[in-house]
Amino acid sequence: MSDYENLRRQLSEHGQEHLLRWWPDLDENQRANLLSQIASLDLGLVQHLWNQAVSGSVRKSVKQEAMEPAPVRRRAESFEEWEREQQEAEVGEVALRAGQVAVLLVAGGQGTRLGHPGPKGTYPIGPITQRTLFQIHAEKVLALTRRYEAPIPLCIMTSPENDTATRQFFQTHAWFGLDPGQVHFFVQGTMPAVNATTGKLLLVEKHSLALSPNGHGGVVEALARSGLLTRLEQQGVRHLFYFQVDNPLVKVADPVFLGQHIEARAEMSLKVLPKLGPEERLGVVVRQGGQLRVIEYSDLPSELACKRSPDGSLELWAGSIAIHVFDLAFLKRLAETSALPYHVARKVVTYVDDSGLIVRPEQPNAIKFERFVFDALPLARKAIIVETDRRQEFEPLKNAEGENSPTTVRQALSDLYAEWLISAGVQVPRKSNGSSVYPIEISPLFALDAEELRAKVDNLEEVAGPLVLA
Ligand code: UD1
Repeated sequence: MSDYENLRRQLSEHGQEHLLRWWPDLDENQRANLLSQIASLDLGLVQHLWNQAVSGSVRKSVKQEAMEPAPVRRRAESFEEWEREQQEAEVGEVALRAGQVAVLLVAGGQGTRLGHPGPKGTYPIGPITQRTLFQIHAEKVLALTRRYEAPIPLCIMTSPENDTATRQFFQTHAWFGLDPGQVHFFVQGTMPAVNATTGKLLLVEKHSLALSPNGHGGVVEALARSGLLTRLEQQGVRHLFYFQVDNPLVKVADPVFLGQHIEARAEMSLKVLPKLGPEERLGVVVRQGGQLRVIEYSDLPSELACKRSPDGSLELWAGSIAIHVFDLAFLKRLAETSALPYHVARKVVTYVDDSGLIVRPEQPNAIKFERFVFDALPLARKAIIVETDRRQEFEPLKNAEGENSPTTVRQALSDLYAEWLISAGVQVPRKSNGSSVYPIEISPLFALDAEELRAKVDNLEEVAGPLVLA
């Protein structure tokens, strides 16, 4: 039987033979494209997920068991707690020096919500120099490489949509000073979109399926399939510091966090902070049925999101900021068992209709399937959750305007650097709400943290205008 006939038979077994409707109109290349896309589908999985989506069993399982606040290690307040953190930092530093830590950056998304053409990491966000997100992250890795005299691998997950543009961006910028051999790109997988009413797979063109990235949970499979997981293991890497491209405040490979993870012998660790309010779009870490898990904001029933403790604070307060440490051995196990579930989301997807016309719907017409990396949490034999400080670590770039927009992110960066300068004895004019009057930008290569800065600003007494330290 030819490839074509074989596929036609498989498609009809799953009620998806419409995908070959335009076959007679296609040229050789188009036919080859369609065949290879269909051949890489797991039709049984798509059907299973569709059945789940229609029966609503995914959402029901979230609602079934009571959610309690997760146990979280709160921020250090006493001298003893602060001292303990210093010891944990030393453990993290030993691992960094020994080359046991790699950095894992998920950057499969586009800057669509931002109105930015191209990969989100190419967005210029530096308050003065317009450094891009990628430059900030890469310079942190370079600074750490110099500090710990170990070539910390920077692994960047792209998607088929932005892979070429991302690689080219790094090449054009000479890998921001990193050794090109230290930067590893790997592409995440895709999942097909289906018609939300019928479960039929959608074509975006007559010869092409409507495919989209399979969520950041695709990182596990993509790391393994690319061979990178094995290469890292062979190099002696044991822990992966994971973060999202949208947050330029992240303390990349934070030694305290790494030390806490290592000392606890955890397989996965998470940083959280108190949500600003019930509506803040952060996944919350909870304990449910004896297991720790992250419930995505869109899955958290509003009565639970709004529930308050007697002191007035949110009961489910611990918002995940998508900063994790994973043990490499744990990721390997996850990849072998393909254990992460899929979530369903109703989305607007352009498609070719039965008459061959391209339709651009205004209302969600399709279902997409995505995996979330935080679903690894209940599968970890041991996990720790650590509270951090929003001002020091979190202001993600999500929207073109309003909250989490370029304006708030640039201000948060200036405010963080202002705090570092103040702790170094420099006078920094601030507004009544405490934020810096002037934009301030400090290159990670000048100083990675307040401590490093202190040693370098002896001659600076006062900030009297926009300030760049590079
Ligand atoms: C995400 C988290 C949320 C968390 C918040 C913190 C999800 C589903 N939710 O929300 O729990 O509190 O960030 O800021 O992640 N990405 C890929 N490939 C994909 C999809 C996403 O690499 O297929 C990357 C994006 O490039 C981005 C990150 O994952 O770096 C987050 O994705 P996004 O869709 O922006 O998540 P949020 O809704 O902002």
